[in-house]
Parts: sequence; C-alpha cells; structure tokens
Amino acid sequence: SFMQKLTGIADLADRLKKHLGISDVIVVPLDSDKAVTVKHQIGKEAARLLEANFIGETKVAVTGGSTMAAIAKELKGDKAYPSLQFIAARGGLGEDVLHQANTIASAFAEKTGGSFKTLYLPDHLSEEAYAMMMKEPLIKEMMDLYEQTDLVVHGIGNAEEMALRRQSTEEEVQMITEGGAVSEAFGYYFDAEGNVVYRIRSAGIQLEQVHKAPVIIAVAGGHSKAKAILSYFKNAPERSVLVTDEGAATEINNLI
Ligand code: G3H
Repeated sequence: SFMQKLTGIADLADRLKKHLGISDVIVVPLDSDKAVTVKHQIGKEAARLLEANFIGETKVAVTGGSTMAAIAKELKGDKAYPSLQFIAARGGLGEDVLHQANTIASAFAEKTGGSFKTLYLPDHLSEEAYAMMMKEPLIKEMMDLYEQTDLVVHGIGNAEEMALRRQSTEEEVQMITEGGAVSEAFGYYFDAEGNVVYRIRSAGIQLEQVHKAPVIIAVAGGHSKAKAILSYFKNAPERSVLVTDEGAATEINNLI
C-alpha cells in the first residue's frame, strides 16, 4: 500500500542516516536514473530545506551539475532573501553552461532576490598559470568569500563519469584511475574510503572550507550513484544532510 511504501522509505532514510553518520537523510520516492521527474523532486526537497536555512546574511557556496540545476528551478521565486550572497564554488568551464556553478549561483540569486559572485576560469590550469591566478585580486576576493561560507550545497558525481564530462586531461584521468577514485564533489575526487586522490587544479572552494561551513547539504540520486555517495560520506562532516532518492538509497542499503 501507499502507507507501507512511505514507511519503507522512512526506514531506508533512517538506516542510511545511521550508516553514513550524518545528521539527516531525505529520500524521495523512485529513481532519478529511470525518470527525470525524480530529480525534480530531489530539487524540490532541497529547495525547501535551503529556504529553511536562508536566514539573515548568509553566504551560500553552490556547485554545478544537473541536480543543483533542479534545485534552482524549484526555489520559490519570491525574492524574499535580498541579503543572501551566492558564491560559485568553482570556476568550472568544463561543464555544459546550464550546469556550471556560475550559472547555478546566478539562478539561485534570481529566484531568491540575493546577489551572486561568479568565477570564470578554465577547469584545468597548468601549475604556472594556477600559481599566477592565485595572486590575482579577483581570485583572492573569491578565496576570502569561500573562507566565510555559511552554507555549502553541492552535488556528488561518479568519478569516471565526471572526468569524462569535464574533458579531463590525461594527467587527471591517470590520477583518477590509479588513485581508485569513486566519487567527485566540488572538484575533489575521493576513493572508496573517502580519501582525496585528486583535486582539479583550478580556483575553487577548498575541502577544509566546506568542512567548516555550518550547514552542508549534498544532493545526489539515482541507483548508479550509490557507490559514489558511500565514498563521499566516508569522510564528510557529521552535520551534513543528504537529499537523495529511493533508487540510490535502496542500492546503498544493498551495499552496506
Ligand atoms: O560534482 C558532481 C556533479 O556536479 C554532479 O552532477 O548532479 O549532474 O549528477 P549531476
């Protein structure tokens, strides 16, 4: 019955929350790998959760991806939060424009009435270019904002899939394969134990900055992301919240 199904999902969410050791897991019905509307449901749940956290002057770092884009669509467009500042968590030009952190930051600002800060930089810089970029005042300003982040909202991807999607360099692909990367979030690649095995050489939020943000919300669904979600949460702060779907949650439950 419908009620039994809901209880099933609530139990699943509870089991995941305990296993991942985080403060909350929200599970929407069905599997976003099988129906795109499920991703919109994840977006809707995450949007409501975010709105509950949009209080006062809050600096919100946002990443890219299709799940993040789904949140932007579901935010109420009442421009009720003019003191919010959305910060693109990474330069990230490797992604499709609509899914870049910069685009998401501006979409969030448009809906909420807040402001936004973008960062347009290639995803893959040479060591020399990276060192030089870091000295640029505009980049330094971004780095200072990352340091003051109150809330981070980010997607989680499969390592290999993300490497392909971002037209990664040979060096990157090699590091990812040899390092046994399973998941990717905000430009960091993690192995099955949650250790960082590679980091995209581009300006962006640092893992330490994500880890010290008071509110951290991860959005990722679909059964194909089960291993990636498990890998990422091996090393994520306890106060993290995950918004996911039944497809991912069921598969994680089978794996644990
Ligand atoms: O870093 C992870 C990716 O941005 C996730 O992208 O939501 O389109 O799967 P996605």
